[in-house]
Amino acid sequence: PNYISVSKLANLLNCRMESLLQDLKKLGFSNLSQGYILSREYVELILQEYDYRLPDSSKELTPDNVYDALRTPANPRFLQKRPPVVTIMGHVDHGKTTIIDYLRKSSVVAQEHGGITQHIGSFQVITPVSKKKITFLDTPGHPVFLKMRQRGANITDIIVLVVSIEDSIMPQTVEAIKHAKNSGNELIVAITKIDRISQPKQREKAIEKVTNDLISNGITVEKVGGDVQVIPISAKTGENMDLLEEAIILLADVMDIKAENSLKTMAEGWILESRVSKSVGNVATVLVKKGVLQKGKILVCGNTYGKVKNIRNEAGDQLSKAFPSDAVEVLGWKQLPVAGDQVIEAKNEATAKKFVSKRLALLEIEKEGLTVEKLNEQRAIEA
Ligand code: GTP
Ligand code: MG
Repeated sequence: PNYISVSKLANLLNCRMESLLQDLKKLGFSNLSQGYILSREYVELILQEYDYRLPDSSKELTPDNVYDALRTPANPRFLQKRPPVVTIMGHVDHGKTTIIDYLRKSSVVAQEHGGITQHIGSFQVITPVSKKKITFLDTPGHPVFLKMRQRGANITDIIVLVVSIEDSIMPQTVEAIKHAKNSGNELIVAITKIDRISQPKQREKAIEKVTNDLISNGITVEKVGGDVQVIPISAKTGENMDLLEEAIILLADVMDIKAENSLKTMAEGWILESRVSKSVGNVATVLVKKGVLQKGKILVCGNTYGKVKNIRNEAGDQLSKAFPSDAVEVLGWKQLPVAGDQVIEAKNEATAKKFVSKRLALLEIEKEGLTVEKLNEQRAIEA
């Protein structure tokens, strides 16, 4: 049998304990207190009474979606362009890390500081010609990204598929193509290591071979009237790296990538990484999805929450605000957030506490096997 206390149920239903106790009295309960334990049958009865109090009755309330209620409804007025979020994929040894290294060295913060001091799983560059921002995630193979995808979060906009001019398409290239198609992300192809073939005619021939292989793998490249750009590059010499960056900007413009970036929008994001720092305590890297992060804002995340004490970029500089597509370190968490978890702003600390304890209650209820979903199922069978 499954049991739940009155206080936990009030929490779950997001209603005041007093009103729940009153309604229970109306149902014939007596000698009630907040610790009063209700059996499954009674909970079902009460759920029928309280159906309308569930935040969204069409959706089960689960630990994963408990924070959905904190979101502000979409407001097109606040929509603004945001930088594209890009990941690099491709076969082993085809040059992913070398591209990242090259871009990192030319990244916004690196230029300002003569090197990057911290690794936060992500970095931004400003493109050489159009002077626009691109956010690169440099650990797309990390399990965290799988976790986020499983939760329906597509945090990447564009995939840069790297294919070595020497090897052309290999098994993991095919995997990456499959992934790109399933994810709905847009694709740009970078043919890498072109410096390895110095003779122009031979190089051209090799590029053509890779392009044809791409076509036979279902990629609609520009050569056959498609819209996938193919950029031959060398991450070693830097040749055409500027073209690759501008190709990303061009595609982002076509995609018209936007997010609400008003302070009034409840900020949302994802935890990319987290760590405990000896000097400042719990630190988490947040990729901002919408809204604006600012000192003093309250954020909930998984089983914890925090008041933003500090926002820092990868060089450790303090920032007053962080905008959509920025990945920044956030300080001020009660407990260490978990990578892959979602972050949502709450109006104030009381609301944050309430939602976190509601999530904890839901987790416990789930553990006991008494889910709202199951109760609803049960009711449907009985009806
Ligand atoms: P994994 O992380 O193991 O999947 O490999 P990767 O895709 O990150 O490849 P990585 O960047 O480590 O490059 C593999 C090798 O190719 C290294 O020895 C690089 O120095 C070399 N390499 C990468 N890009 C280029 C390039 O543009 N030109 C030349 N000549 N060598 C390159
Ligand atoms: Mg690598």
